[in-house]
Amino acid sequence: MRIVLLGAPGAGKGTQCKRIVERYNLLHLSSGDILRKERAEGSELGKQAQGYMDQGALVPDELIVEMMAKAIDDAPDSGYVLDGFPRTVNQAAELDKALKAKDQSIDAVVNLVIDDGVITRRLTGRRSCPQCGAVYHIENMPPKVDNKCDKDGAELVHRSDDTVEVVQNRLKTYHDQTKPVIGYYQKTSSVFDVDADKAVDQVSNLIFDKLDSLAKA
Ligand code: AP5
Repeated sequence: MRIVLLGAPGAGKGTQCKRIVERYNLLHLSSGDILRKERAEGSELGKQAQGYMDQGALVPDELIVEMMAKAIDDAPDSGYVLDGFPRTVNQAAELDKALKAKDQSIDAVVNLVIDDGVITRRLTGRRSCPQCGAVYHIENMPPKVDNKCDKDGAELVHRSDDTVEVVQNRLKTYHDQTKPVIGYYQKTSSVFDVDADKAVDQVSNLIFDKLDSLAKA
């Protein structure tokens, strides 16, 4: 199965992807995680992306399309979930082109729907594990031991783009440049809108219901 997960910053894409990949044995391909890894390694791509990410702007399409095309080429046959990509209509069209060349297409697009008002609270309270990528929230999903990852005990970090000011820019970028991607897919694919302003398990169950029905069809 090849799935695209859409949604505003903080809608819960990363949280839900981790559950989807476990249930359906898929690979999680997060453009944001790949970029943060490139930055941590000090690669040329990481250096080029840094300024855009710190301001809450999009990294230029040509850099992202090349990076994600490589990730998709390396993905196993069982399939993958794309998280954070495509984020512009141009990226979506480039993805379609790359898939068509392999006689493939996207099977489902899940769109996490949430109001902007909920997002700032979610992102300013988010803490992530720099080692395994597990995601927590200081109020909604706290770790068992304060600021330590439940899985590997690493010290949790607060992402540098999760400040109130940068979150506002990321939301504006989402509305201006990423929301049109929903309309792009509505013309060609099955787009499932899911209410993301519910408890994490409830959101997962709504997603699984849609994907299970697709897998059975
Ligand atoms: P990226 O890393 O993709 O960030 P994002 O889209 O802004 O999404 P987030 O990771 O912030 O949120 P999420 O939806 O995954 O939410 P999460 O599950 O963590 O991109 C970062 C930057 O990289 C971009 O700004 C851009 O510069 C660049 N970039 C990346 N891809 C690009 C592309 N394709 N083109 C160009 N540039 C690109 O949840 C958030 C918090 O809420 C957590 O604390 C979580 O515990 C909590 N939470 C989750 N679900 C719930 C729930 N149901 N109830 C309560 N709390 C919840």
